[in-house]
Amino acid sequence: MQVFFNNEFVEDDKVHISPFDRGFQFADGIYEVIRYYPRNFFELDAHLKRLKYGLTELSITFSNVESIEAILTELISRNNLSDKTAIAYIQITRGAQRPRKHSYNDEAVPTFLAYVEEQPINYDTLNNGVKVGIEQDIRWHRCDIKTIALLPNVLSKQRAVQKNLFEIIWHRDGVITEGVQTNVAFVKDDVVYTPPLNNLILPGITRQTVLRLCRSLGIQTSEREIQLNELKNFNEIFLMSTTAEIMPVISIDDVVVGRGVPGNLTKHLQREFQKLH
Ligand code: PDD
Repeated sequence: MQVFFNNEFVEDDKVHISPFDRGFQFADGIYEVIRYYPRNFFELDAHLKRLKYGLTELSITFSNVESIEAILTELISRNNLSDKTAIAYIQITRGAQRPRKHSYNDEAVPTFLAYVEEQPINYDTLNNGVKVGIEQDIRWHRCDIKTIALLPNVLSKQRAVQKNLFEIIWHRDGVITEGVQTNVAFVKDDVVYTPPLNNLILPGITRQTVLRLCRSLGIQTSEREIQLNELKNFNEIFLMSTTAEIMPVISIDDVVVGRGVPGNLTKHLQREFQKLH
């Protein structure tokens, strides 16, 4: 597969990452995942804006964000994916530095990797909905930055997979935050509720798109704290992410949501979302 590494397009097996790269040693870096639907990257500007935000928050000096669109477009073409549904993965770390120390040198040169791979939409789960679990959110307090430090996510997701669950929804001491790799929304009386943006959740691009879509469709939205003990009151729950799109939740920890099938408002939003790309 052709990937883009630092300044050039190369075969993936020609990429050499330094053992002293701070991404490898300290998870000192950020990433993005962007959907490619045949002929266009979905909400690319919003993803690149979030990438820039992460770079600024971590004081990583990487000045080539403007060239990413052209790089991704070229990757799609080089890998013969123009007519496929794919994802683009971008990672920027602070770069290699010796001797090993937690603090960093301003001279470290960031490491940049981008690749694309085919990833079809899973219409089966989109149509039938998915089961999820609930766990305590044990992450740090800067979940608004899309860092590559994903160990809590990895471990929660592994437990989900072992239990045949699609996703884990997290709560912090009884307040819902987000999923392992999704934002989450709740529906009651035709109002869409979702936790507000703050340092405890990722500002999801799909979340932002769905809120915008709701407004354009005249569906009322409310960004407010949602308590764990409120979950039983909602008729519909859905997940939102680049890879999962709008994914209906049919049970949480074996407690059925609504009628145990994707709800009408969720299905309406799914149909409208499809029209956007
Ligand atoms: N995950 N919350 C978390 C913790 C995420 O990792 C993601 C994205 C989201 C949804 O964000 P967006 O709508 O911008 O994709 C929310 C990516 C896709 C991933 O880990 O693969």
